[in-house]
Amino acid sequence: MRPEFADALERAGHGEQLTKNDLITLLNADKDESRTLFEAADQARANTLGDEVHFRGIIEFSNHCMKNCLYCGLRRDNQKLARYRLKPEEIIEGARETARLGCRTLVLQSGEDCYYSADMLGELIVKIKEELDLAITLSLGDRTKKDYGLLKKAGADRYLLKHETCDADLFSYLRPGTRLEERLERQVWLRETGYQVGSGNMVGLPGQSLETLAGDIILMREMGIEMAGIGPFIPGKQTPLAKASGGSLELSMKTLAATRLAMPGAHLPTTTSIASIHPQGRVKALQCGANVIMPNMTPRQYRASYMIYPGKLGLQDTPEDSYKRAVKAVNDACRTISRGHGHSLKYEKAV
Ligand code: 5AD
Ligand code: SF4
Repeated sequence: MRPEFADALERAGHGEQLTKNDLITLLNADKDESRTLFEAADQARANTLGDEVHFRGIIEFSNHCMKNCLYCGLRRDNQKLARYRLKPEEIIEGARETARLGCRTLVLQSGEDCYYSADMLGELIVKIKEELDLAITLSLGDRTKKDYGLLKKAGADRYLLKHETCDADLFSYLRPGTRLEERLERQVWLRETGYQVGSGNMVGLPGQSLETLAGDIILMREMGIEMAGIGPFIPGKQTPLAKASGGSLELSMKTLAATRLAMPGAHLPTTTSIASIHPQGRVKALQCGANVIMPNMTPRQYRASYMIYPGKLGLQDTPEDSYKRAVKAVNDACRTISRGHGHSLKYEKAV
């Protein structure tokens, strides 16, 4: 083991703040060092958050998107994709199923689809909150400050808006017409509006280095991010990045583990992308820092069309199948299922 590697781990163990160089050292871990890194992250997760895994049921309610991100199958120029939108009643039915199965959080995710106005979504959120004891996370992409406010007022608790990469040039290349700075400004709005804020990044993007990944982690820590979705980039045939090589399981796990050490109290999901590149992906993620799992609650008939990337887990599943699959991963990792809403630690302390 390199001395600087041992030193970084030891300082993390004492609760010291890791520097960018420390994180690069951790991300550079060889096979043996990786084992130690994963154990340290697992221990940090157990110390700060315990053994419980929070279930967040996700309904992907629309695959329409006005943006044209180079890495994503939902991009506007992908004309091969059959587009769908769930009706409000279908979303409510999905929310009922999510609660019935035992999830305490519902994630409503879509492409950037202005068909659903903030008023329309707000009405939906009010109805769900009246009927069901669910925390609500929104993942709707870039909206106006006013929209974020309306949705918060309606009862939404959290918002996921990933920064994707901290490299501003790479960001604008991958997300044409948008800038990292504006994305981060939105994260600030969300925080100011009272949301628990989630971010995250992809691992293995073309042009990304270990230094970029370390920068991603530092950025999230500086932004006071409470949840971070980290997973491998998976190239899709119907995107301009079809020929790129994707992110590996190993580097995704190292990034997750390093994030856990840098942000010990954050909620870190085992992303569907990590589950999609390896059959044991979720179990492995749970064992190197993750404490959240996101079973897919999208009705089966729409799943194949929410094709952000190919080979996505559970395309033939019903919501119940997906829930059971998540339970199995938690059992396989010898962990327990949380019965609470799984709010962020910052939120828990404030109430
Ligand atoms: N591979 C992995 N993750 C992807 N996402 C989008 N495209 C891909 C891909 N090709 C992730 C992004 C986005 C979320 C909806 O899905 O991080 O925020
Ligand atoms: Fe749209 Fe999000 Fe995909 Fe970009 S990553 S094309 S904003 S769904």
